[in-house]
Amino acid sequence: MQIIETSIELQEHVKEHKKISFVPTMGNLHNGHLALFNVAFKKSHEMIISIFINPTQFNDQNDFRNYPRTITEDLSLIAENFPSAKVFIPTEKEIYPNSSKKNYELGSIAHELCGKFRPGHFNGVINVIDILLEMIGPSYLILGKKDYQQLCIIEKFCKIAYPEVNIISVDTVRDKNNLALSSRNNLLEDKLKAADLFQILFEASLKIKSIADIEEQTYLAKEKLLQKNWHVDYLEVKTRKKLTQPNLDDKALIILAAAYFDKIRLIDNIEFCIE
Ligand code: PAJ
Repeated sequence: MQIIETSIELQEHVKEHKKISFVPTMGNLHNGHLALFNVAFKKSHEMIISIFINPTQFNDQNDFRNYPRTITEDLSLIAENFPSAKVFIPTEKEIYPNSSKKNYELGSIAHELCGKFRPGHFNGVINVIDILLEMIGPSYLILGKKDYQQLCIIEKFCKIAYPEVNIISVDTVRDKNNLALSSRNNLLEDKLKAADLFQILFEASLKIKSIADIEEQTYLAKEKLLQKNWHVDYLEVKTRKKLTQPNLDDKALIILAAAYFDKIRLIDNIEFCIE
């Protein structure tokens, strides 16, 4: 495994290789990240993983400060599983030399769902993705469906700005109780109870047989979470990819939620179809 810290070293590496697969992360790696590395490595053995806790995507500075930093463990995990991987670990100065944030016109998709509750979050995500893609020039960009809205916004952005990049999405990896793996899970006192989020979304997705059922079922699902002491930011059904309000022609849907349990904000989603 090779560690790359500067964009100059990175340039040396990327100019030698044509088909690079790239997995951006913020570290604190778990099996969800490993699933992405597996897919990336199958696409191209020239795999670059970035570990960078991106300050511009945190709307809450406390959240940024408290983000788990486990670089030693992260590097051991990569070395053990993907000894030929290149790991890019830039400093903040390397990514943002001018300390000025760029503003992107991302459309309404960035202001819905998580965008409503985390103002500026997706602008920060696109800012760092833009910089990393420019530096690395990958053929494949591997992202998780766990952050479904992030995936859709990056896809939309890349269609125009980086049409040569193939985006590959990977299904959410869950624990034995179906709790979606996340860096925030280590902060939870009761992981079994946190798995209720998946269970309640899943039950609602099974009960929604037509567009007419959405309102009642999302209401009931929110009520169930409230009764179990969750604080719900949102719980909604949208069309896949565009994340718009479903109408009668839409069959491929997704139920998404963000909610707090033990003061920890969790997100999850399930794709489903109606007749
Ligand atoms: P991070 O939360 O580290 O996630 C990195 C990638 O791992 C994302 O594409 C995310 O969707 C995926 N991922 C996380 N948990 C997963 C799970 N349980 N199953 C499958 N994939 C999972 O997302 C970010 O970092 C940042 O916003 C980033 C894109 C790196 C930009 O800073």
